[in-house]
Amino acid sequence: MILELLGPEPDLLRGVSVALRIAYYLTCLSAAGLAIFAMGFGHLQEAGDVAACRRLTLVMVAAGLASSLAWLAAQVALASSGDPFDTEIWDMMLTSRPGISVLITWAGLLAVASATWIGRRALMIGAAGVLAIAASFTEVGHTTQHQPRWLLATALVVHLLAAAFWVGSLWPLMIASRRAGPEAARIVEGWARAASWIVGGLILAGVTLGWLLVGQLGLFVTTAYGLALLTKVTLVGVLLGFAAWHRFRLTPGLAAGAPGSGARLAVSIGWEIVVMVLVFWAVGEMTSTSPRPEGL
Ligand code: HEM
Repeated sequence: MILELLGPEPDLLRGVSVALRIAYYLTCLSAAGLAIFAMGFGHLQEAGDVAACRRLTLVMVAAGLASSLAWLAAQVALASSGDPFDTEIWDMMLTSRPGISVLITWAGLLAVASATWIGRRALMIGAAGVLAIAASFTEVGHTTQHQPRWLLATALVVHLLAAAFWVGSLWPLMIASRRAGPEAARIVEGWARAASWIVGGLILAGVTLGWLLVGQLGLFVTTAYGLALLTKVTLVGVLLGFAAWHRFRLTPGLAAGAPGSGARLAVSIGWEIVVMVLVFWAVGEMTSTSPRPEGL
């Protein structure tokens, strides 16, 4: 988006397409992550928080349907010199990779919405929906243009499931912390134990993707893609700083019932959400440029 608008021949439509892609990632992975949190920690939540998280999941599903459709319309406009309603291009787009990718995302979002509506009895539908959302992103993007395809696609699915777990958990953790008390401490501590493994998997998959797509150390500092990736990794470093501060300073206070500890943790998680949104911006910048210069 910023890279597009700062480029030699800025193209507003391309900039809008990147912004819609960021919204597409953020809403769909948040919906998937909220469903994962409900599966793993919903039974520990207060009834009021369960209801609030269900409402947010359905809002994220609706926003995911809207932003993915708008992103696809932007691809139609880019392919038809600006007309997002060109029916001929729509026909072509719906049977091509971007169209198929969005249709799989929709199937996943609707499965997550049904599971959220039905409740714990529909756990398998929810799990299938989460997997479909992550897998839908392997239909487009750089992982389709490089080899080995199977390793890139697998790494991307693992990466996105872990990213969804992290982004979708922040809001439920914030409202639990605000309530404070031993139940809140149980949720936050249980989540942190799971997160240490899952975030490890996210980073391992990210490094694998980075190495297979870029392939030369020098390119990390000499290309727009490399700089966007380094910006992203730096922002993830800040997120890990928050995680360590929460795990070793604020959560022990919450577990000990220290006055104000829940409110402090909730505010800090609020800032973590801001940094997480910036990570998705960096992803949008990465996917709008090429990992390697022409011919390499
Ligand atoms: C909170 C942490 C993170 C989030 C939310 C996140 C999110 C994402 C998303 C949404 C994509 C999908 C792009 C596509 O459609 O292909 C992606 C791809 C990628 N991520 Fe991450 N990521 C995170 C951490 C990391 C880390 C720590 C690394 C590196 C060590 C990394 C490296 C990559 C790479 C190389 C890609 C492939 C992008 C492409 O297709 O060009 N990510 N990430």
